[in-house]
Amino acid sequence: MNHIESLEGLRAEALSAIAGAADLKQLEAARVKYLGRKSSLLQVLRELGQLEPDKRAVVGKLANDVKRDVSEALESREGGLAAAAREATLKSDAFDLTLPGETVRTGRVHPLNQTAEEIVQIFRSMGFEVADGPEIEDEYHNFEALNMPAFHPARDMQDTFFIGSNLLLRTHTSNVQIRAMKSRKPPLAVLAPGKVYRRDSDITHSPMFHQIEGFMVDERITFGHLKSVLSSFVRAIFGKTRKVRFRPSYFPFVEPGAEMDVECVMCDGQGCRVCKSSGWLEILGAGMIHPKVLEHVGYDSEKYTGFAFGMGIERIAMLRHRISDIRLFFENDVRFLEQF
Ligand code: PHE
Repeated sequence: MNHIESLEGLRAEALSAIAGAADLKQLEAARVKYLGRKSSLLQVLRELGQLEPDKRAVVGKLANDVKRDVSEALESREGGLAAAAREATLKSDAFDLTLPGETVRTGRVHPLNQTAEEIVQIFRSMGFEVADGPEIEDEYHNFEALNMPAFHPARDMQDTFFIGSNLLLRTHTSNVQIRAMKSRKPPLAVLAPGKVYRRDSDITHSPMFHQIEGFMVDERITFGHLKSVLSSFVRAIFGKTRKVRFRPSYFPFVEPGAEMDVECVMCDGQGCRVCKSSGWLEILGAGMIHPKVLEHVGYDSEKYTGFAFGMGIERIAMLRHRISDIRLFFENDVRFLEQF
């Protein structure tokens, strides 16, 4: 009787302690107290063997029932407390999704780089690859090898910044023609974007500006190839119906030399202030690479011919975006830059 009563009492006490456990810590304490190695329940189970057989069966069954009930109660209370704890954390960590966020101001690609990238993509699609060359150049690569010997009057056209006696800031990207051709053999189709420098400054000239040089050399390259490549370029960048024309011009490193005009993008060829009523805008210089230049780089000028062209990136960007002052590109006023 003694055993039965105390087991019943134990069960009632354990179940109420479990129900009253306020958190997982208290619940664990209850588990240790009622089911732990030193608990009275385990004590009873250990001592079963000392009881008489008929009593042993009754007490043993009851002790096991109590153990099962207490375990089940622990388990379900644990589930409940864990859920409550999770709920509480979620509540205390909660944040207001409707609060305004912090604005992160993102930078963007400079309009000149956007234009250069666009031009590069167009020529890439025609099979040109990109190369570059040094901005600090020697007279040989900037002038001499381009058929402009020291006495040549064309050197004066370029308003060069000199650095000492033989070094200078390159006045055009044509130096890459020499460097690329010297290091490689035809066939080659190369595009070279980069910075160039001239002593010149007004609303359409900046002492530092950007050019893209292009050239192609192989057997039997003709002026027809030049016209077709450049016409495709103009259609891609200024629109399918945009007309172009070639005018004879002079650059010492090409023969024949030409300048290419596009139909004025401001007035569609009607004549306006920008095109000075001519309906045309000059956008690049070009021509067939002079045999002397080919010989300078060690190419057989009887076997190979090539064309070259050079354009100002600022000029293209100004025409595309109708910008009238070149200095806007370099003042880094975000109100200007944000518009691209
Ligand atoms: N280098 C010339 C310039 O800067 C442009 C040009 C390049 C002309 C290639 C012809 C051929 O004005």
